[in-house]
Amino acid sequence: MKLLPSPALFFLLLFIAASVSAAPAVSPASSPTETPSRAPPPTAPSRAPPTTSSSPLDPKQLEALESLNIPTAKNPCDRRPSAASSAVVTCDGGSPFRHVTGIFFTNCSSDLSISATALRALSPSLLSLSFLDCPSLSPPPRFPVSLHSFSAVSSFLRRRGLSGVSLARLVNLTDLTVSSVPVSASGLYVILGNMHKITSLTISNANISGSIPKHFHSNLTHVDLSNNLLKGSIPTSITLLSNLQSLNLTRNSLSGEIPTGIGDLMWLKNLSLASNRLSGAIPDAISSIPGLTHLDLSGNQLNGTVPSFFSKMKNLKHLNLADNAFHGVLPFNASFLKRLEVFKVGGNSNLCYNHSVLSSKMKLGIAPCDKHGLPMSPPPQKEDASASDYDYSDNGDGNGKKKEEHHGPNKVVLGVAIGLSSLVFLIVFLILLAKWCG
Ligand SMILES: *[C@@H]1O[C@H](CO)[C@@H](O)[C@H](O)[C@H]1NC(C)=O
Ligand SMILES: *[C@@H]1O[C@H](CO)[C@@H](O)[C@H](O)[C@H]1NC(C)=O
Ligand SMILES: *[C@@H]1O[C@H](CO)[C@@H](O)[C@H](O)[C@H]1NC(C)=O
Ligand SMILES: *[C@@H]1O[C@H](CO)[C@@H](O)[C@H](O)[C@H]1NC(C)=O
Ligand SMILES: *[C@@H]1O[C@H](CO)[C@@H](O)[C@H](O)[C@H]1NC(C)=O
Ligand SMILES: *[C@@H]1O[C@H](CO)[C@@H](O)[C@H](O)[C@H]1NC(C)=O
Ligand SMILES: *[C@@H]1O[C@H](CO)[C@@H](O)[C@H](O)[C@H]1NC(C)=O
Ligand SMILES: *[C@@H]1O[C@H](CO)[C@@H](O)[C@H](O)[C@H]1NC(C)=O
Ligand SMILES: *[C@@H]1O[C@H](CO)[C@@H](O)[C@H](O)[C@H]1NC(C)=O
Repeated sequence: MKLLPSPALFFLLLFIAASVSAAPAVSPASSPTETPSRAPPPTAPSRAPPTTSSSPLDPKQLEALESLNIPTAKNPCDRRPSAASSAVVTCDGGSPFRHVTGIFFTNCSSDLSISATALRALSPSLLSLSFLDCPSLSPPPRFPVSLHSFSAVSSFLRRRGLSGVSLARLVNLTDLTVSSVPVSASGLYVILGNMHKITSLTISNANISGSIPKHFHSNLTHVDLSNNLLKGSIPTSITLLSNLQSLNLTRNSLSGEIPTGIGDLMWLKNLSLASNRLSGAIPDAISSIPGLTHLDLSGNQLNGTVPSFFSKMKNLKHLNLADNAFHGVLPFNASFLKRLEVFKVGGNSNLCYNHSVLSSKMKLGIAPCDKHGLPMSPPPQKEDASASDYDYSDNGDGNGKKKEEHHGPNKVVLGVAIGLSSLVFLIVFLILLAKWCG
């Protein structure tokens, strides 16, 4: 074959360019919500308006801070956390001396030890003490009784944990947070018996056993006792906590029925009783909680039909009824389910949906009903478990991503096909061209 004439060369380049651009680049795995923004640590001190006091810090307390490895060369009261040490200190604006009001330890170094002497020196003024991610710390025998707020999250040597008695002494606490720290106590009542001012209580993932106390102090607004070993029933008296805004009893071994008095909790926004052994029906009284936003009853043995009143609860955004023993026809329509951010109902083998009201595309994880209102076939199992936890949100959840993965290979195949066919076309064209020119 003789040298290609210049128009042929031009077409050749054009075709190569076209076929290269037709082949799709490997689709960049765009997963916008892959990393859910982690909530800021609960212990982040809410900085009081910067006190402009120029008084020096009480010398005894200065010494105490030094013994806690907190650098005191610069004014320790306004220190930001640094690489060297990550404790934040807050102080009052007192005169002639300022006093320490709060210490917030994060990610403590392994050589930190909290001496009783240091705590004694800080005690009269210290209102807030917080430990986040300090797992190699030995707990001091006692904490200052002056504290109003105490928080320990993923801290303290696991074999020691915290003693219930050392917490019980903190009678002036309004906020208690203990999470992922084992607590040794024969029951919650030991810890809470004398905390008359408590408003926010979290003791989660702490291996606490026994039952939920019959008497709580009535100013509680937040109760989180999730991830423990609590047994017995939910006491009716919990419904006397008239200021309660959130109640989380997830992952315990609670049994019996949901108390009907739960409807008296007029300010309740979050109620999670998931992963227990609760039985019986969903009490109608839940419909009278006006601001209920988040309801998780999944992973129990609740039965009866799913009440239709949920669709009249204007503030409801998150409803999880999965993995129970509900039966009958799901009483919801698509416009209600679309309004929710999360709706899960899978894992209820006797529950079904009316296919003239709801589409199978919603992947509810339950079967459609036959004309008698009974499940027609076993629930669809073609997708993995995520189908039964269908999360009715569009913001890049597992389902969306899976779809994208299915499209990926198809696009590559299409690209290769386009590339190959343009190559064949090019060769045929060149042969014809060569014959025509020659
Ligand atoms: C905790 O401190 C260690 C060194 O002491 C450091 O390597 C690590 O990045 C810190 N972690 C966080 C979350 O700050
Ligand atoms: C608790 O607070 C009250 C009033 O603020 C105070 O009088 C009392 O001494 C405090 N109790 C302890 C043990 O610090
Ligand atoms: C709770 O106790 C169990 C054994 O009883 C143990 O395996 C587990 O690590 C403990 N959890 C905590 C947070 O200490
Ligand atoms: C509850 O709080 C109010 C004011 O916020 C207070 O007057 C009352 O004494 C508190 N009750 C208890 C039992 O602490
Ligand atoms: C309840 O506690 C569980 C386990 O600690 C947690 O995953 C869940 O987010 C909490 N629920 C609410 C509504 O805060
Ligand atoms: C309810 O739970 C949600 C999600 O866990 C949380 O963002 C919200 O702050 C909680 N509300 C209350 C009142 O605890
Ligand atoms: C629900 O369960 C309770 C006890 O577990 C049982 O007594 C009741 O008959 C059940 N109700 C229905 C409708 O299955
Ligand atoms: C869906 O149900 C709600 C509450 O039952 C009702 O108000 C609404 O009209 C229904 N929407 C449709 C489209 O049927
Ligand atoms: C399903 O919905 C249609 C229309 O609303 C109704 O006529 C039918 O009776 C329902 N079927 C069942 C089993 O509830």
